[in-house]
Amino acid sequence: MKQFISVRDVNNIDAIVKKALSYKADPLKDKTIGAHKRIGCLFLNPSMRTRLSTQIAAQNLGMDAIVFNVGSEGWALEFEEEAIMSGNTVEHVKDAAPVMGKYFDILAIRTFPSLKNRADDYSELFMKQFIKYAGIPVVSLESATLHPLQSLTDILTITEAAAKSDPDSHRDRNRKSKIVLTWAPHVKPLPQCVANSFAQWVNAWGKAEFVITHPEDYELSEEFTKGATITQNQDEALTDADFVYVKNWSTYNDYGKIYSNNPKWMMTNKKLSITNNAKVMHCLPVRRNVELSDEILDGPNSLVTQQAANRVWAAQAVLSEILRPRPLKGS
Ligand code: CP
Repeated sequence: MKQFISVRDVNNIDAIVKKALSYKADPLKDKTIGAHKRIGCLFLNPSMRTRLSTQIAAQNLGMDAIVFNVGSEGWALEFEEEAIMSGNTVEHVKDAAPVMGKYFDILAIRTFPSLKNRADDYSELFMKQFIKYAGIPVVSLESATLHPLQSLTDILTITEAAAKSDPDSHRDRNRKSKIVLTWAPHVKPLPQCVANSFAQWVNAWGKAEFVITHPEDYELSEEFTKGATITQNQDEALTDADFVYVKNWSTYNDYGKIYSNNPKWMMTNKKLSITNNAKVMHCLPVRRNVELSDEILDGPNSLVTQQAANRVWAAQAVLSEILRPRPLKGS
């Protein structure tokens, strides 16, 4: 693997999930493959899970991890080619990224969208410029439009949970699991990254019946959702669901807005009752009793802690693939 920016960098999703689960079973089994190697983790935006899990994953492989909160502690970076840097930016990525390429063996980067200009955000300029100028493998720790480490974790968590027998589920084991991605209210306009990326991975995986539900005006880009059933009827979507992924996103078409914050879209136990005893997922951080009710988050159907804990194994599988560039055999 040369980079990890989206699902397109993965040959075989099941094989990398299997590898991640093997690290969960035996975290230190490859504890020397990263010896004498260093990963730089650059954060242009805040993080808790991604930052900590990536460091733990690197350490489990014997790598040194250095975190740089470039967004709050570094020089303000310029990303536009041929920019006349007479404004607030201090250093061009053309100059900064090659230096990082000399310090590190892998560069991992978190950026966020501005949510002001869709074309700019969806061009993924920040990530592309780091890839172009760093000269070393780049891993996305979340970009303007995608969050692939989260999505790999999500597929891993679904795989793990689906393999467990659930006495309260009436799913015919021969039918595919039904996975529902549901929009939820939020107080701030949030990126579409997690929803885009989850849709992209579930569609590429192709192992589930996949339904996306959201209010009018919250359509995501077809680039990521194509293949899913899309409905504005949340109850219809939730009926018989095995997994419900709850996430807010701001509008894509009239970009970056909040059109509706109807609390009836919040996931509750009442809604859970129409599912097939669904397991409930969220990438965290979550706004309690806005996106998801306490009763679900603190109840037996919530996978959110397991999901966040699994971030380590997804990151470890990706880093090990980059460190040891051999094609994965089929699962
Ligand atoms: N889910 C996730 O990416 O969490 P952090 O923003 O805390 O890294």
